Amino acid sequence: MTDSYKIILSEKEMPQQWYNVQPDLPRPLPPYLHPGTGKPITPEDMLPIFPMELVKQEMSQDRWIDIPDEVLDIYRLWRPSPLHRAVRLEKFLKTPARIYYKNESVSPAGSHKPNTAVPQAYYNKVAGVTRLATETGAGQWGSALSFACQAFGLACTVYMVKVSFYQKPYRRSMMQIWGSEVFPSPTDRTEAGKAFAAKYPDSPGSLGMAISEAVEDAVKHEDTKYALGSVLNHVLVHQSIVGLETKKQLQLAGEKPDVLVGCVGGGSNFAGLVFPFVPDKLKGDPIRFVAVEPTSCPTFTKGAYTYDFGDTAGLTPMMLMYTLGHSFVPPGIHAGGLRYHGDAPLLSLLVHEKVIEARAYPQNPVFEAAITFARTEGIIPAPETSHALRAGIDEALKCKETGEAKCIVIGFSGHGFLDMAAYDAFIGGKLEDFEYPDSMIQEAICAIPKFPG
Ligand SMILES: Cc1ncc(COP(=O)(O)O)c(C=O)c1O
Repeated sequence: MTDSYKIILSEKEMPQQWYNVQPDLPRPLPPYLHPGTGKPITPEDMLPIFPMELVKQEMSQDRWIDIPDEVLDIYRLWRPSPLHRAVRLEKFLKTPARIYYKNESVSPAGSHKPNTAVPQAYYNKVAGVTRLATETGAGQWGSALSFACQAFGLACTVYMVKVSFYQKPYRRSMMQIWGSEVFPSPTDRTEAGKAFAAKYPDSPGSLGMAISEAVEDAVKHEDTKYALGSVLNHVLVHQSIVGLETKKQLQLAGEKPDVLVGCVGGGSNFAGLVFPFVPDKLKGDPIRFVAVEPTSCPTFTKGAYTYDFGDTAGLTPMMLMYTLGHSFVPPGIHAGGLRYHGDAPLLSLLVHEKVIEARAYPQNPVFEAAITFARTEGIIPAPETSHALRAGIDEALKCKETGEAKCIVIGFSGHGFLDMAAYDAFIGGKLEDFEYPDSMIQEAICAIPKFPG
């Protein structure tokens, strides 16, 4: 076992292929359904918004997918990312557990999101697309895609959830530095945005709403395609580089993980960390996977496992997933990247099959964990990431009670340098814990159209 603070791979040791969990699932992933007909969608149905190569990856049953050289070249700017042993946090907690965290905050945009932004921009560039449209919650995805579009010479339009646009002006600046245009959603640039703003004039916006706007923008413009930062299979494939590196790093450290923990918005950083370990679990390895979400947007812990749209306006295919209903508008909590009504279908299937467990936390205990982490390990975590830290710390405290020396691995999805407004609110005692009322969740779930049949 290592006593190093960091386990570093060389650039040559970076994985050259992504891992696709689809062929290893306990049962096949049910198809996406066409929003108009309710029939399984075909690759052709997806081509108006995605280039062929990404559509192929979305449906691929290949276990391994080569990472193009052009993508590896950009990845090398920050990858392989370090795996840290949180020695000082362990000492502070007085736990016998060994805590590791995989640090995705070292990317240019400060999170795991460039892992998929870069290949998405690349495949669009190769297909002759000149502009990408997207949505962003906290601004992490928008900044990642802006960076990636800049790297490949593409224009980029970002629909940013209104509450984040005003809470996080510096994320907007980052996107603009990397050459993007950014609008607070709902906007009056799209029919979906106009209709939504007319119905809910004071709405803080939502990721589902912003997705509707970006998809509409892509569909209406020949030169433009859409890019999604989470949820879809191809995004989870790209993020697998996180878990593949972690596996190698844990081997180097002489470790076998007992628990992997990550936060879940749409599910991409969690799936990226965990999926490469899923075959080990299915073969009998007693490893646990813990997905963490906010109590204000409790998709896994209180949602329904059913077909639903990925966006508010109902433009996307319907996917079988855990969902709070596409009309659900979560409150404007500070972890903007976790405010999504659904969860990745691949991840949802594995939660439904009980391969992965889920838990929810309110904001205040999450920020307490963030402060503990910042005061011991130094890095100030993103509010989203702090959900994972809360669960990781709780697992370590459980070990303190039982005396077990478990190996806990936390997905450190991003830093919180641009989240100071949220930290100020916490330090000033102004953060409210919010549990979404069950009746409102039931109402949103009941509004989901019954497809198929
Ligand atoms: C730092 C960070 N972590 C996690 C998330 C949640 O997204 P996902 O569940 O796709 O990893 C976000 C989303 O914006 C984020 O910015």
